[in-house]
This record gives sequence, structure tokens and C-alpha cells, in this order.
Amino acid sequence: MKLVEVKHPLIQHKMGLLRAADISTKQFRELAREIGSLLTYEATTDLPLEETSIEGWCGTIPIRQIQGKKVTVVPILRAGLGMMDGVLEHLPSARISVIGIYRDEESLKPVPYFQKLAPDIEQRLAIIVDPMLATGGSMIATIDLLKQQGCQHIKALVLVAAPEGIAALSAAHPDIELYTAAVDVKLNEQGYILPGLGDAGDKLFGTR
Ligand code: PRP
Ligand code: URA
Repeated sequence: MKLVEVKHPLIQHKMGLLRAADISTKQFRELAREIGSLLTYEATTDLPLEETSIEGWCGTIPIRQIQGKKVTVVPILRAGLGMMDGVLEHLPSARISVIGIYRDEESLKPVPYFQKLAPDIEQRLAIIVDPMLATGGSMIATIDLLKQQGCQHIKALVLVAAPEGIAALSAAHPDIELYTAAVDVKLNEQGYILPGLGDAGDKLFGTR
């Protein structure tokens, strides 16, 4: 698996703000979107370009444009929605494929409850967004599902990844790319990432 910990100063600064215990819902939302946007910039450096031409002020000029534009953004409900708009800032025409999965609090196993995918998903690059990669169960289940539908090109963007989740994801799906704003220390006994962010979904939706 290709793992990229994006260490841009803007990301490191914003991650520091995001970790504050007394952060407001408004500020958490803004930062999750902004960091999602910065991760997208990094994760799209290899999008293929094609040559074309347009009419410029001085006549016909050659330009480059992104080939095909076949992308689907895949937010994992709920918390993935907090990063989705950051991706769409750069890829405004992308289709959205929504996956609903929550993590059972006792077993920590992923429980799927909803899916609505772009119909031609097998032709698209899927960019999955979810702030937290903890045990990796939710991400692995999402990728299993996308691959069952024929999706072949998958990148995942997360704000925080635990070493345990990275190892599990790499073992299950060595062909994907993972972009993270931080690799943290470990999981605690309840499966929360340390130092992490706490419950990202609750912070984004104001339900804590
Ligand atoms: C969180 C997070 C991930 C998952 C990560 O979602 O957004 O989807 O946990 O944990 P894992 O790597 O151990 O599977 P949660 O289940 O809290 O749901 P929510 O987004 O609806 O709050
Ligand atoms: N889900 C979260 O929201 N936070 C964690 O630390 C782990 C899973």
C-alpha cells in the first residue's frame, strides 16, 4: 500500500488546532473541510492530463486539461461528510457515492447500513473520505464493497491514522493509496486513537 503522511506546514498547523479539547463544532467543521482540501491537492498530483486548445486573447493556444474527469468521492457516513466539501472544491463535477457504516461500540466491527453508489463506478477513481482510520475495519469494509462493484482505482483520505489501522488496511488492500494528515501513536482499550481527535462524528455534528 502506498502510504503518504502529508506533512505540509498548513496541515500540521491546522491539525494542531483540530486537536484542542474545547474546539467548537463550527471550527472543527471548518478545519476538517480545509484539511480535506489540502489532502486532495496532494492526492491528485498524478491525475492524467490531455493536450487540447482554446481560443485565447491572441488566437488559438494549447492548454492541458484533466483527462476524462471520472472521479467519485466516497464519504463514509457520518464523519466522512465533514471532509467531502474540501474534495469537491477541487473536483466540483465529481459524482458522490455514499457509504453508511458505523463501528459497533462493543465489538469495534463495522456495521454497514446504507449505500448509494455512482452507477458507472467501475470506470471512476474513487476518493474515499473519513477522518479516522482506527482499527481500519470501516475503511476495509468500504473498499471491499467498492471492489465488489468493480471499482479498480481507489485512494483514501483521512485526517488521523493509527498504526494498527494502517497495518490492517495494508494487509487487506495493498493496491490502494492512503493519504493522512497524521499518523498517531496507538489505539486505547476502547479503540480510540491516541492522541487522536476523540469522536470525530460527534464533534462534526455537535452530538457529543
Ligand atoms: C468513526 C470514523 C470511522 C470509524 C473508524 O465512525 O468516522 O468511520 O469510526 O473506526 P475503525 O477504523 O475502527 O473502523 P463512527 O463509527 O464513529 O460513525 P460516525 O461517523 O457515524 O460517527
Ligand atoms: N472513531 C472516532 O471518531 N475516533 C477514534 O479515535 C476512533 C474511531
